[in-house]
Amino acid sequence: MNDRRDPLLVVEGLTVEFATKAGAVRVVDGVTFEVAAGETLGLVGESGCGKSVSSLSIMGLLPRRQARIVDGNIFFDGQEITNLSEAQRRTVNGSQIAMIFQEPMTSLNPSFTIGNQIIEGLRAHRDISKRAARDLAAEMLDLVGIPDAYKRLRSYPHEYSGGMRQRAMIAMALVNSPKLLIADEPTTALDVTVQAQILELLRKLQAELEMAVIFITHDLGVVADICDRVAVMYAGQVVETARVEGLFEQPLHPYTEGLLHSMPQNASRAKALHVIAGSVPRPGEMPAGCRFAPRCSYATEFCDAPVDLPLTGEAGRATRCVRIADLSLKGAK
Ligand SMILES: Nc1ncnc2c1ncn2[C@@H]1O[C@H](COP(=O)(O)OP(=O)(O)O)[C@@H](O)[C@H]1O
Ligand SMILES: [Mg+2]
Repeated sequence: MNDRRDPLLVVEGLTVEFATKAGAVRVVDGVTFEVAAGETLGLVGESGCGKSVSSLSIMGLLPRRQARIVDGNIFFDGQEITNLSEAQRRTVNGSQIAMIFQEPMTSLNPSFTIGNQIIEGLRAHRDISKRAARDLAAEMLDLVGIPDAYKRLRSYPHEYSGGMRQRAMIAMALVNSPKLLIADEPTTALDVTVQAQILELLRKLQAELEMAVIFITHDLGVVADICDRVAVMYAGQVVETARVEGLFEQPLHPYTEGLLHSMPQNASRAKALHVIAGSVPRPGEMPAGCRFAPRCSYATEFCDAPVDLPLTGEAGRATRCVRIADLSLKGAK
């Protein structure tokens, strides 16, 4: 009946609260998206929109004492993974889903050689000899473009350059061929040249390893380069989902339009950097109606009406805007 492949990852109504002195604050609120096997989904939005909290939820890495998934479900490969025990997590993380971060030292331990860390990661999921693991680790360094692999396995993280550490972190994440890689702003801290190299590397590895990627970024230029589909997040919610071409040609949400117009390459044409005025509302201080309305140049009184707007649209193309029917927004062309 259904000729569409079942999605690899389904996030459905994910809602996360943090305990703060002022009480519980909801930082992710009903987030829904899917990722198909082998697909790259861009998760975009300004800082503080809930991108990292959403991905940490998928990894089961939310700080246990402060954060709680209060609603929603996460399915991976047909299995619910919303609230796995630590033992169950260990069989999923690393071998099925892996994550890389902006700061490589989040995953690398300064006290062990790169080789030991990759080998340990391998042997945590596979029953192989040390020697075979070392060969695989060297192969992995080679794959991520670190020359002299056997020699470099014996180096400590501080003996690597920033770009090399990023590559080593990628090697570690991918050594067990996960089906899904979550990349949380992995190139944001790098200079432009190294950033381009790392993006190229991720693109190559994704094709070779046939894995799905969630690429988190606030840079729509990167999205245009490497993503198939995009979910745009604003103030803890997904406000638009689209295929990349569709998003750039005709955004449906004014926030997406604002993001497109604030891309440096578009702004230089307009001779001024158009940045969306105002800032993301803080959790606990959300507007009652559309969360973007206070910053939206298209907002009318209807937008402030206190209703919980749903994400509406066709499969794969949806938006959360009261004025969807009367707006015709401009893309980046
Ligand atoms: N440990 C925490 N305690 C309280 N609030 C937090 C904590 N971590 C993140 N938040 C809040 O959750 C919201 C979403 O954060 P985050 O997911 O890191 O945003 P993004 O990755 O999109 O920049 C922000 O408002 C942030 O302040
Ligand atoms: Mg983040």
